[in-house]
This record gives sequence, structure tokens and C-alpha cells, in this order.
Amino acid sequence: MTADATLAPPAPGALRIGPHTVWPPVVLAPMAGITNAPFRTLCREFSGGKGLFVSEMITTRALVERNEKTMQLIHFDASETPRSIQLYGVDPATVGKAVRMIVDEDLADHIDLNFGCPVPKVTRKGGGSALPYKRPLLRALLREAVAAAGDLPVTIKMRKGIDDDHLTYLDAGRIAVEEGVSAVALHGRTAAQHYGGTADWEAIARLKEHVPEIPVLGNGDIWSAADAERMMRETGCDGVVVGRGCLGRPWLFRDLAALGSGEAPYAPAFGEVAAVMRRHAELLGRWLGDEARGVIDFRKHVSWYTKGFAVGSELRRALATASSLAELDEQLALIDPAQPWPAHADGPRGRTAAGGRVVLPDGWLEDPYECAALSADAESETSGG
Ligand SMILES: Cc1cc2nc3c(=O)[nH]c(=O)nc-3n(C[C@H](O)[C@H](O)[C@H](O)COP(=O)(O)O)c2cc1C
Repeated sequence: MTADATLAPPAPGALRIGPHTVWPPVVLAPMAGITNAPFRTLCREFSGGKGLFVSEMITTRALVERNEKTMQLIHFDASETPRSIQLYGVDPATVGKAVRMIVDEDLADHIDLNFGCPVPKVTRKGGGSALPYKRPLLRALLREAVAAAGDLPVTIKMRKGIDDDHLTYLDAGRIAVEEGVSAVALHGRTAAQHYGGTADWEAIARLKEHVPEIPVLGNGDIWSAADAERMMRETGCDGVVVGRGCLGRPWLFRDLAALGSGEAPYAPAFGEVAAVMRRHAELLGRWLGDEARGVIDFRKHVSWYTKGFAVGSELRRALATASSLAELDEQLALIDPAQPWPAHADGPRGRTAAGGRVVLPDGWLEDPYECAALSADAESETSGG
């Protein structure tokens, strides 16, 4: 926790999450496989330390079992404060245990719970964005988490519901308030939509009206600081959560940190982008304890960083198959560093695929008030929100 966060009075409109003041009220969305310590560090550096940066999702079962990879994922850089961990769990007792472990071992300063995952292998078992449909189960999970968290704030992140006929976000918001959750974030899509169409910002406004007691964070389709301002203005939300807009563009946090200043968006020439790419790969290598593993993990970021630049498919492929920093340097040196930022790279990036019918356990929709218990494997192999 930041020592001064509790002392300083919040700036007008600042976001309060428990004892933490977040100003400007901008949050890096948890993204599995992306928002690890290296990526959070890059975003934080660009923001000048302003904002909140959430870890990738950690499954509660793996955490309580001290799975080796999970213990690596919960690592924060010394410069990160407050430390935000996102948890995913389906069993109240295991969620409680994981939260207690975080508190007892001082592993984080804020806990976010993920109820937004739309992937079939998760919803098929009643997990992810299917879970809030079972109101008693959601309530039990939140009750355990909040009780175990003590002074640590607990927040939730969710979608609008399963599909347009089975919306859950207003009930979930009310349950969150009743159970002592500190803030709620809404991705304005249903599970059925996955990442298709456009996010429904009106739902964010409705949630804000419905739960005036706690901060509401809006999420979905913010590609620029201007979008962030517009979402706040149009919906009345207390803060924004930004995901795909930061992919291959951690400097978006520079613009977001200057929210309201009217500053022109940062538009780096390729030379600056190349330097960030190099640093990202290097940080990943240090974090993973192995240069080659870092460069290999970095491969998935190449197309996002180079989006819109005249790079050519061959060179792009070479960058995305590099296995060492020297190889990455060699390929990056072949691209004109003076190449200006391509304006058309400012729009949507990352996943855009639409979903379809949401796969659910048999009879799942019959009774929202049935107190379902999910099998532990509803937690396995999840891949985000
Ligand atoms: C690659 C990827 C991984 C994601 N992983 C998670 C996750 O672990 N937890 C979560 O709550 N949401 C996850 N999400 C969803 C984002 O946090 C966010 O809600 C979504 O991308 C919509 O916001 P955006 O339009 O700003 O991208 C993920 C999204 C992407 C694209």
C-alpha cells in the first residue's frame, strides 16, 4: 500500500479502492499471458507511476497448492505499489484460503476477482462469466473473499451476463455492495459476445446508477485517452479499465496518466517503438530467468508493436521467431527508425472475435437462486476474460 495514499485527500474525481487513491482513475486490465511484472513495469514507467496495474489472472486452487508457475506469476517488481492480484476461483472455501494466504504472506495490497471469462471450457463447468448467474454462489464467494481479506480491498470484474436474455450485472453489483466489495468493474459485453461488436457503455451507466455506494469502473473498447474521457463523461463511471488498447502500446499509459490535460497523444516513431520492444523482451528474460525464454515469450507481442508500420511480412516473421536478444536487435536494426507512428494503428487491436451460444452445464439457467457448487476442475486451464 502507498503510505501517502491514505493521507492525501483524494483529488476531485479520484478513484478510491479501499485505502488506495488512484489518480488519474485508470487501471490496466488483467490480461492472462500479458500483464505480468515486465509488462506492468513498462506501463507504469510510461504513466509516471500513476494508475493501477492488475496482475494476470491467478487461479485460487493453483495458488493454495503453491504451483510453481503460479508462484512466479504472483511476483511483483519492487517498484509496484499498490500490488493488485486478480484471482479466479469457483469454490468459496478455496477462494477464502487463497485470499488468506495473500494476506498472511503479504503478497498483494488489492485483490480483484474475475467473473468475466467467456471461454467454453470454463463456462461449460459454470465458471467465469457463467458463475454470477447463480446468485447464491456468487454471494458465498464474495463473502468468503471479503472476510478473509481483512483490510485489503476486494473488487470484482465481470461482464454484463451470459447473453442478452440472461443479464447478471445489476444483481451482481448489488450483491457486491451487500458483501462489502470495494469497487466493481464492468466489461460492457455478454459472454455470448466474446470480443465481437462494440462494448455497451450504457450498461456501465446503468450499473453506476444501480450501485451508487461503490466505485464503478467501465471497461471495453477504450483505444485512447480521449475514449477514456468520453466513457467517464458518458457513463458517469468512476474510472476506466484498459486492456487491448495497451497491447504493443504500453505508452498508452502516458496518455492515460495525462487524462484531462488536453495533451496530444504520444505517437512514437519506429526507433522508439523498437527500444520499447527490446526492453520488453529483456525484462521478460530477466523475469523468467532466461534470455531465450524471454525473447520467445515476447514473440506474441511482435505483431501488436509493429501494427501499421511498414515492416513487411518476412521481417515481421523473423522478429516473431527470434530466440535471442542479439537476433531481435539484428532484425530491428533493419527497420527505419525514423518511420513515423502510423495513425491508422490507433484503433482496435487484439482479440475481436465474436462468440456464439454460451456453453453451460445442463440445466444451469433453470434456477438462478439454486446454490450450485462447482467441481474444482471448473478452475483449470482458464485463459482470462
Ligand atoms: C489476451 C487477453 C487476456 C485476458 N485475460 C483476462 C484475465 O485474465 N482476467 C480478466 O478479468 N480479463 C481478462 N481479459 C479481458 C480484459 O481484461 C478486458 O476485460 C477486455 O479485453 C475488454 O477490455 P478492452 O476492450 O479494453 O480490451 C483478457 C483479454 C485479453 C485480450
